[in-house]
Amino acid sequence: MIQMAVMGLGTVGTGVARIVAENSAQIQRKLGDTLRLKTVLVRHFREGPWRNLMTDDFTQLETDPEIQVAVECIGGVDAAYEYTKRCLMAGKHVVTANKQLVAERGCELLKLAEEKGVHYLFEASVGGGIPILHPLTECMAANRIDEVYGILNGTTNYILTRMVRTGAFFTDALREAQARGYAEADPTADVKGIDAGRKICILADLAFGRQVNPAAVPMEGITRLSLRDVKIANRAGYRIKLLGRAVRLPGDDRTAYVAPHLIAETLPIASVEDVFNAVVVRGNATGEVMFYGRGAGELPTASACVADVMECLTARPKGLLWAEDASGFRDPLELETRWYFRIEGSLTDAAAAFGQVEVFSEDGETAFLTDAVTGLDAMARAAGLNVLASMRVLS
Ligand code: HSE
Repeated sequence: MIQMAVMGLGTVGTGVARIVAENSAQIQRKLGDTLRLKTVLVRHFREGPWRNLMTDDFTQLETDPEIQVAVECIGGVDAAYEYTKRCLMAGKHVVTANKQLVAERGCELLKLAEEKGVHYLFEASVGGGIPILHPLTECMAANRIDEVYGILNGTTNYILTRMVRTGAFFTDALREAQARGYAEADPTADVKGIDAGRKICILADLAFGRQVNPAAVPMEGITRLSLRDVKIANRAGYRIKLLGRAVRLPGDDRTAYVAPHLIAETLPIASVEDVFNAVVVRGNATGEVMFYGRGAGELPTASACVADVMECLTARPKGLLWAEDASGFRDPLELETRWYFRIEGSLTDAAAAFGQVEVFSEDGETAFLTDAVTGLDAMARAAGLNVLASMRVLS
């Protein structure tokens, strides 16, 4: 029998405990042994099916030689970092969905895991139930990865979908996402693009093999997005989606950012709705490959965690997946894209700044698309305009 522990019994921790119990036959068949949840670390005891397994004493878990794998579902960096480190030091494998910890300290924890000959796995940290990190690093390993982008936050995609489809108010849609267990404990991380930002950092680390620090990545969420732009875009055959994007630049430099984009409705990613996420990886041999599925929620996220637990018990640790060196990170405004602007002004004003533009509406305000320009150029040209909204276009 193989024994494991769960640290933290929130949405993901509960899902892990449920899958280990409910899918025990499938897990046993694949592992060739029984997987048993022995200990659940909690801050406060509560009633429920795992009451008898609960402890609030981390050292009990840390010093238990029978526990081979710990699933960290605490979230944040403080206790999660300390307990992860101590579990690895104690020779236990650690699995997590904690994107903040992986984005900020993943390299250091992978190094420690390598020294101790154990796994530190985090498939669930990006895309919830979508297998993306393993395919990116294994199935696409023969490629040079040139770009990764995607809808990386289920909560904001759910909110945007509800607002567009049913005209729901932002706060009501957010409350629904929280009730469904999609949102972070502090949902500002979702709506301000920080959660998607952590995920694009992890994708960039793995895709380009070098650290991308979250603090260097510009992250814009959906809080400033106006329904007016959503409607203008819809009428013109575009959808507005919050995208995280990481791009390889010449000389092995790279950039990454999170921001709302206009996406032509003919592109597959434009039809990704509700809590669903999609990640597109562009390899130099494969071209674009898209991964799609539920990006948040108890069981999808826990499914990825339990699969990682099973990998810990059946495969050899992979060692360091990217280098600590964070140099070569460039301003994403150096990238060229088309831009959407809504200005208080006329088409003549728009044309004076940008030359030929594609006009969406003119009604006291003018909404238009520019040709492809760098973000820096777009900002400089728009400096003399009264800009009400601006966004990149994915084309
Ligand atoms: N709050 C996150 C989301 C959970 O909505 O996508 C999954 O990482």
